[in-house]
Amino acid sequence: MSHRLEGKKAIVTGASRGIGRGIAEKFAEEGAIVGVNYHKSEEKAEEVLKKVKRESEGMLLEGDVSKENEVEEMIEDFVSEFRGIDILVNNAGVYIRKDLEETEIEEYDKTMAVNTRGPFMLRKYCLQHLKDSRAGKIINITSQLAFRGSTHGTAYVTSKTALIGLTRALALELGPEGITVNALAPGTIDTDIIAGYSEEKRKKRAEKIPVKRIGQPEDIANAAVFLASEEGSYVTGDIMGVNGGSALH
Ligand SMILES: NC(=O)c1ccc[n+]([C@@H]2O[C@H](COP(=O)([O-])OP(=O)(O)OC[C@H]3O[C@@H](n4cnc5c(N)ncnc54)[C@H](OP(=O)(O)O)[C@@H]3O)[C@@H](O)[C@H]2O)c1
Repeated sequence: MSHRLEGKKAIVTGASRGIGRGIAEKFAEEGAIVGVNYHKSEEKAEEVLKKVKRESEGMLLEGDVSKENEVEEMIEDFVSEFRGIDILVNNAGVYIRKDLEETEIEEYDKTMAVNTRGPFMLRKYCLQHLKDSRAGKIINITSQLAFRGSTHGTAYVTSKTALIGLTRALALELGPEGITVNALAPGTIDTDIIAGYSEEKRKKRAEKIPVKRIGQPEDIANAAVFLASEEGSYVTGDIMGVNGGSALH
């Protein structure tokens, strides 16, 4: 392993499962110290921390990213333990898969609170530390659906499109502070989000993807390592599709 993130201090939200887990573990393999945020899946987050600690250092950060006091507290906890933050990955997300007519206003609000307001607040509480780092990195996890739209995910599509706006605006504002801000837009990735798919549906989905396979969390983690490392330091404001060719933008 090349240790491209040696000694870097990273916070990954929603790291108990799926893509966030993949990113947290890959970051640790690359030498990063990782704050493993989770909301409800404590046992799973503990498993992730165990793996992280086999490679590097880290700690659990319990907290709902849509609650300001919880965000503030977890950032304080991480910084008092590890004295700084170099990388913030806003990965935590919810996808309430419903047709427009069935989507309640409260579900829209919840989706926006976790997927869009969360990253905004995390940025707020991490900002001074990212500035102090002099090579701070923010990586937001959006979705290919921000480009493709969806007939059963209006709230989700809206939240992920807003996250692209946030990424671009922050990139311009924070560039002079030495902070890069990018987003990854995953295609279909094999996590709990698609756990309900039948074998038949998975096959059909894979068939529609130009590279003929559903993505793995590691595919997103590899791209995140690039953006978080020195190698990606001239990339900012970009929305990188990691989707096997299923959404071209
Ligand atoms: N999988 C895909 O096909 C796909 C495609 C495009 C984009 N994405 C995006 O990629 C990200 C990760 O997706 P995934 O497939 O890995 O999802 P997942 O398997 O459902 O995992 C979601 C993660 O987010 C955390 N989370 C949810 N609400 C939270 C909150 N309020 N505060 C803190 N953490 C919270 C969960 O933590 P707990 O379990 O601890 O509650 C969990 O760790 C999401 O932003 C998603 O929109 C996924």
